[in-house]
Amino acid sequence: MSPRQLKLGVILKGTGSHIAGWRHPSVSLDKATRFSQYVEIAQLAEQGKLDFIFVADSPSVSYQFQPVMLARVPQIYHIEPVTLLSALAPLTRHVGLVGTITTTFSEPYNVARMFASLDHISDGRACWNVVTTTNDQAAANFGLAEQIPKRERYARASEFVDIVRGLWDSWDDDAFIMNRDSGIYADPQKMHFLNYKSERFAVRGPLNVPRPPQGHPVVCVAADSEDGRELAARTADILFNAQLDADSARALHQDVKRRMPKYGRDPDDLSIVLGLTLVIGRTDEEAREKYAFLESLIDVEIGMQYLSYLALTDLSGCPLDEPLPAFLKQDRSRSRLNIVVDAAEREGLTLRQTALRYADSFGHLAMTGSGTSIADRMQHWFETGAADGFVLRLPYAPQGLQDFNELVLPELQRRGLFRTEYAGHTFRDNLGLARPSRILK
Ligand SMILES: Cc1cc2nc3c(=O)[nH]c(=O)nc-3n(C[C@H](O)[C@H](O)[C@H](O)COP(=O)(O)O)c2cc1C
Repeated sequence: MSPRQLKLGVILKGTGSHIAGWRHPSVSLDKATRFSQYVEIAQLAEQGKLDFIFVADSPSVSYQFQPVMLARVPQIYHIEPVTLLSALAPLTRHVGLVGTITTTFSEPYNVARMFASLDHISDGRACWNVVTTTNDQAAANFGLAEQIPKRERYARASEFVDIVRGLWDSWDDDAFIMNRDSGIYADPQKMHFLNYKSERFAVRGPLNVPRPPQGHPVVCVAADSEDGRELAARTADILFNAQLDADSARALHQDVKRRMPKYGRDPDDLSIVLGLTLVIGRTDEEAREKYAFLESLIDVEIGMQYLSYLALTDLSGCPLDEPLPAFLKQDRSRSRLNIVVDAAEREGLTLRQTALRYADSFGHLAMTGSGTSIADRMQHWFETGAADGFVLRLPYAPQGLQDFNELVLPELQRRGLFRTEYAGHTFRDNLGLARPSRILK
């Protein structure tokens, strides 16, 4: 058996992942919102043999009631992920295409159809990132005054994923016989109705797309709560998570993997990948300078608004140079907020420092340094069971990914921690996952 290797993907965002990265002189602003920029990033990811490109999403303008954010932050808008990935599919050959679609404001039939189609278009490289979406702004676009409660969101998500998988099995792999002589194109016996009915859904099927090349496109879940972990353990091939502390990451890893056997699943069939913000230099010193420069581009007011958004509370009256207000520590129900608050406590950060830190890494793990020192830390997290891989958040595009390819990748490859060539054709092949047989009888 080949040795276990890192799973690596990169967030696809035209200007990069850092809130003020777009102000970096290396970013060509005339290109930043253009499709050609996405092509360049996707092709760089493929040159680096990365497992996937990842498009995050929310079906609303983010921060729409925060004028300062709205005016200064490019992360407010979202190109529709499956449309974007479908356009990138013929311009790439190997890299996995991960698109986020929320279960809260979608219908399973549409989602099954979109990802089955993307899987055909890309010859087996589609992946659906399942999210339940927390924000009220999105709810307001779908006939709701406010977001539905989390329990209900996850109950819906859980059924939703089963329905989508069931619909992907609407046709046998060999349903389309296409016999010129007999004139028979499809075998109707090989088409299957789903006939799903519950309080939430009624979906008869079948899906009007042939079975996807991967059987089932890869399924990723981005979540952290109890319900999110259970959903991932039961249904996901990839869990995308945010962790700042290696012990907590290891605990998460063990917890989610421990839940899998009761669903008849092998824990090795799920990869847990963590968001990782990287500022890379030729030396540690150069990287620290780059980090300081990026931080100097963030207005603390933006950091505070960002944090207020996360906390769902206006923090603008709170003293900046004191520890975090106590009420932030009391709400334990919001996973990302908890991670940020716990890190601030652990490291004794003031509110100002926490706001700036959150603004540059969005509550994800962050590493600044030379290629070697970053590879050391990635290796440590990987080999001590804290992560199976990472979703890279590079501060400015495309230079951040060029830096990664040039300075970090060769070091990971030299250590045997990352591939030098793609192993197969489909995303499943490259993740080492079997093509599932039909579950729908
Ligand atoms: C690492 C990570 C990435 C996420 N990315 C998205 C996203 O792109 N779009 C979205 O609507 N929600 C996203 N979410 C939010 C989750 O779907 C979920 O609504 C939220 O995290 C609350 O659930 P939880 O407590 O289970 O994490 C993400 C969550 C995590 C942990």
